[in-house]
Amino acid sequence: MCGIFAYLNYLTPKSRLEVLDLLVTGLKRLEYRGYDSTGVAIDSPDSKNIVMVKRMGKVKVLEDAIQEHFTGGEYSEPVATHIGIAHTRWATHGEPCERNSHPQRSDEGNGFVVVHNGIITNYNDVKTFLRKRGYEFESETDTEVFAKLVHHLWKTHPTYSFRELVEQAILQLEGAFAVAVKSKHFPGECVAARRSSPLLVGIKTKTRLATDHIPILYGKDTDSGKPQVLPRSDSTSEFMPLEEKEVEYFFASDASAVIEHTNRVIYLEDDDVAAVRDGTLSIHRLKKSLDDPHAREITTLKMEIQQIMKGNYDYFMQKEIFEQPDSVVNTMRGRVRFDGNAIVLGGIKDYIPEIKRCRRLMLIGCGTSYHSAVATRQLLEELTELPVMVELASDFLDRNTPIFRDDVCFFISQSGETADTLMALRYCKQRGALIVGITNTVGSSICRESHCGVHINAGPEIGVASTKAYTSQFISLVMFALVMSEDRLSLQQRRLEILQALSNLADQIRKVLKLDSKVQELAKDLYQHKSLLIMGRGYNFATCLEGALKVKELTYMHSEGIMAGELKHGPLALVDDSMPVLMIVLRDPVYVKCMNALQQVTSRKGCPIIICEEGDEETKAFSSRSLEIPRTVDCLQGILTVIPMQLLSYHIAVLRGCDVDCPRNLAKSVTVE
Ligand code: F6R
Repeated sequence: MCGIFAYLNYLTPKSRLEVLDLLVTGLKRLEYRGYDSTGVAIDSPDSKNIVMVKRMGKVKVLEDAIQEHFTGGEYSEPVATHIGIAHTRWATHGEPCERNSHPQRSDEGNGFVVVHNGIITNYNDVKTFLRKRGYEFESETDTEVFAKLVHHLWKTHPTYSFRELVEQAILQLEGAFAVAVKSKHFPGECVAARRSSPLLVGIKTKTRLATDHIPILYGKDTDSGKPQVLPRSDSTSEFMPLEEKEVEYFFASDASAVIEHTNRVIYLEDDDVAAVRDGTLSIHRLKKSLDDPHAREITTLKMEIQQIMKGNYDYFMQKEIFEQPDSVVNTMRGRVRFDGNAIVLGGIKDYIPEIKRCRRLMLIGCGTSYHSAVATRQLLEELTELPVMVELASDFLDRNTPIFRDDVCFFISQSGETADTLMALRYCKQRGALIVGITNTVGSSICRESHCGVHINAGPEIGVASTKAYTSQFISLVMFALVMSEDRLSLQQRRLEILQALSNLADQIRKVLKLDSKVQELAKDLYQHKSLLIMGRGYNFATCLEGALKVKELTYMHSEGIMAGELKHGPLALVDDSMPVLMIVLRDPVYVKCMNALQQVTSRKGCPIIICEEGDEETKAFSSRSLEIPRTVDCLQGILTVIPMQLLSYHIAVLRGCDVDCPRNLAKSVTVE
């Protein structure tokens, strides 16, 4: 949902070409956030102006344009301090085109240029205000009002610092944003700010940093032009301002864009304004409330650079599908003790007594994350004996769903930034419910705003279509169900059966992945069809929904996940000898019912492809083709049945010539409602 990246080198000479290279690499890492258009802004060779290059389409197009545009030797001269800003866009306001690409500018002279992620909801009001003061707009974006508003403030308040201008501008704005701003009037300075959209600052120094925190400066500027630092009465350590002799700063929407440069980052919070001036980074907030901290921590990222590279795979999605034997183990690592049958979820263990007393469990998410809730609901009901509601975040909000203080609300999100899910979280928090975050992104908004939670530890997921995050979310919720039933004597046998199955899961996933070439053959039969129906019930209904979502988003083919029990209530009318149907029929408590559905399909001349258990000849006999998967406990089958669906959608997308990692019109992190 737009990626922003900015780079500033202070007394660490770099040529403009090197800066551009850094910007383009940063954008490539963020491309999954949107790929409608891209753009960069750097200083002109005489440093008196700002030069921008913007292109429609993906970062590669911008990279080629940059190579064409910046050829002169003047761009290879090292510069002691330079600021470049860059953006990759997922269009919200204004069609994808160069004019609407970022950076957006304040005026023809490029006085202020800005990159933005999010939506400024009151942009029309601000536009009207600025139009009355003579500003003309050249794009349809909401972002342009920000650049022009800063410009207006600069003209009307000539004594304001760059940081104050940005700060005063965001005070006038409503909505969600992360911005990075560059100005020719303030050379060597960069200002960035966030509200409800993610933003972090990466710090790279030659020597070890002297501090792990930097102070937050609160309040209005004093006469000296420096913001006041409020007394730190409850602080025990000394916070040093970050004044390094030689330093490089990176501002980015997420950590994958900075990890190849530094693992030292500060996650900015809502309404933080971060400014770099003379190499010094300061973080400023206008107001201080009682529980606001005195400093922001400089954290060390645990991520490895290999995790964000494609390695030998053709696509990130393919790599992420094949990582699942490891990612599921990482989700369980240090949490499940197979020898003692014990599970500890450190992030929620102190809240378990409270959760056990709750009125109901609500599982809330969007898309694939929602499907992980559908997949585990039945087990949660069984092992917790509590009512469990699963909700799509957007619909949950539309309905103003009643929420009570004794509800426990789970927010499931790979990115931890999905706007609908985050809004639903805030809605439930305001009503006093306990908030549990299930996320894959440390430091994300959902993670920070939850009372407690589980990191699914699947590792960075870069392909826009979610795969390994789904299986890890699934396992996290299964582990939670096991924790909740630890002291229930009558459930011990069931728990043992599930724990046993969890211990075999990685090997069984490896076995399923060996079906890859068979799935590819199947894809060859299906890729020219218009539609694919996916049917199942019970524990595998979620796989039908998730499989259909993967097919739709990756291949642009129509696909529908159908609850097999509903077949005769309508969808059966779609079935004939030419409609591709895939059915999941496993030897679980709903086997007989699934077989009924299967026969309803075959008696209408349908020739279903069947996912069944290894060696189940009887079921296979009803299929045109089959994919056999290893047997596991019923409640974990969904992990093994979803993998052939991930592979199938992947292969169909490749055969149809679709861009697997960047499906059209989509973005990975949906930070707008
Ligand atoms: C589909 C997909 C999306 C996301 C949804 C929620 O492959 O990736 O449906 O699952 O946008 O995103 P998160 O999990 O980041 O909240």
